[in-house]
Amino acid sequence: EWTPDAFVESTIANLKAQLGDDKVVLGLSGGVDSSVAAVLLHKAIGTNLHCIFVDNGLLRKDEYEAVLEQYKHMGLNIKGIDAKDRFLSQLAGLKDPEMKRKAIGRVFIEVFDDAAHEVQNVKWLGQGTIYPDVIESVSVKGPSATIKSHHNVGGLPAYMKLKVVEPLNTLFKDEVRRVGKTLGIDDVILGRHPFPGPGLAIRILGDVTAEKVAILQEADAIYINNLREAGLYDQVWQAGAIFLPVQSVGVMGDERTYENVICLRAVESVDGMTADWCHLPYPVLAKISNEIINKVKGINRVVYDISSKPPATIEWE
Ligand code: XMP
Repeated sequence: EWTPDAFVESTIANLKAQLGDDKVVLGLSGGVDSSVAAVLLHKAIGTNLHCIFVDNGLLRKDEYEAVLEQYKHMGLNIKGIDAKDRFLSQLAGLKDPEMKRKAIGRVFIEVFDDAAHEVQNVKWLGQGTIYPDVIESVSVKGPSATIKSHHNVGGLPAYMKLKVVEPLNTLFKDEVRRVGKTLGIDDVILGRHPFPGPGLAIRILGDVTAEKVAILQEADAIYINNLREAGLYDQVWQAGAIFLPVQSVGVMGDERTYENVICLRAVESVDGMTADWCHLPYPVLAKISNEIINKVKGINRVVYDISSKPPATIEWE
């Protein structure tokens, strides 16, 4: 029978044997998978694990600073890189979701590659790939259709010539969480909702600007904080706000407004392959809507997404 303790013990022993005194670079994202992979590797090889955390400017409000602090606190050997401007400038004018993903994937590899090159004699790339990522990346490459190019798998430039070590690639998400718990990783990290690699860029429909990112970060923070306060965050599998570049008429005092729409999405799911929209309580939705409309400049309407997957995907892009 599979247990997290046995998994941790055997994985650390195997990693030690496999890696010896070799150095490993690993990109941390703030998510569950890369964090658990990092701690396992850290336990196996200590400071020979070099973690890199890239601020792509597309994370949730204040998340980069908070998560970087948390990782340092955990004793990880980590370097934070502010690449916000580089990502934004490469996204400028791009409207198509797949073009946006490609640009973000490309810049990420460039930034990561620069940082990895600063680690002398690195031999391995560590990744937090889990079993469903392996399956899905096979299926999206299949002949049927490109659904969405998830860029967390296989995004390695050939010239880096690193060997890949993926300690979680046989596990499902719930198993990864149990392993994380055994390793003593904070619940804030283990319980964090899944968040896409391209971040808020695929929650802003159409072209991405710094101004739209800032608006979405504010709205999203109000949404997520209210879910936490209402004790709903852990019951929801994934939640996030989406910026709709649609203007609608509103009134504010005596004035007519003509501003954008924020859509709230919350889903229940097991693995993200299928999902049902969450029946969030009306009073909670009402409070979130009021708060967003009153506090976030540029938004005069909030809507709630009541579509399930399939056919609607979790993300809008
Ligand atoms: P969809 O929108 O396909 O999302 O129903 C299923 C799950 O995958 C996440 N997602 C992504 N994750 N890169 C990622 O790392 C991506 O390009 C991407 N697109 C979607 C999504 O947040 C959900 O958890």
